[in-house]
Amino acid sequence: MQNSHRLPRDVHRPRGGPRLSRPCPGRLSVFKVCAACHAKDHSNRAAPGLADVIGRTAGNVSTLHFSLTMKQSKIVWDEETIDIYIAEPQKVVPGNIMPYAVMTNDQDREDLIAYLEILK
Ligand code: HEC
Repeated sequence: MQNSHRLPRDVHRPRGGPRLSRPCPGRLSVFKVCAACHAKDHSNRAAPGLADVIGRTAGNVSTLHFSLTMKQSKIVWDEETIDIYIAEPQKVVPGNIMPYAVMTNDQDREDLIAYLEILK
């Protein structure tokens, strides 16, 4: 599937992007920020479970009420789109309803994405 969504040019990117292979003990603790709303498996709470989120089309969990803007975003979640979404949610999906304080620390996002990658 093609990712037709174009990311805004001016969003913040950590230099070099996530380095996913590096082992890091901080991963689990970083995910706790998300775990208030997101499960680490396929179960859906107020928000979708994040197992297998990488490679998934945004807003595509049928049992959930996503915002229209999320459903229409046509984003396919990968390391890059998730990285930017977590740093600046409203720039990637303007009007999305994820009530969440942004994660501005590059290392935290890198750890988090590495963690998401192993959720199946
Ligand atoms: C307070 C609750 C809450 C927290 C905390 C939260 N989220 Fe969300 N998340 C949501 C909601 C609600 C949506 C649906 C947003 C929409 O439809 O606009 C969402 C959507 C998402 C999506 C899109 C899922 C899809 O299937 O398209 C991703 C990816 C995501 N969140 C990742 C994260 C990550 C990573 C964290 C932790 C850094 C996090 N969220 C923290 C509530 C939360």
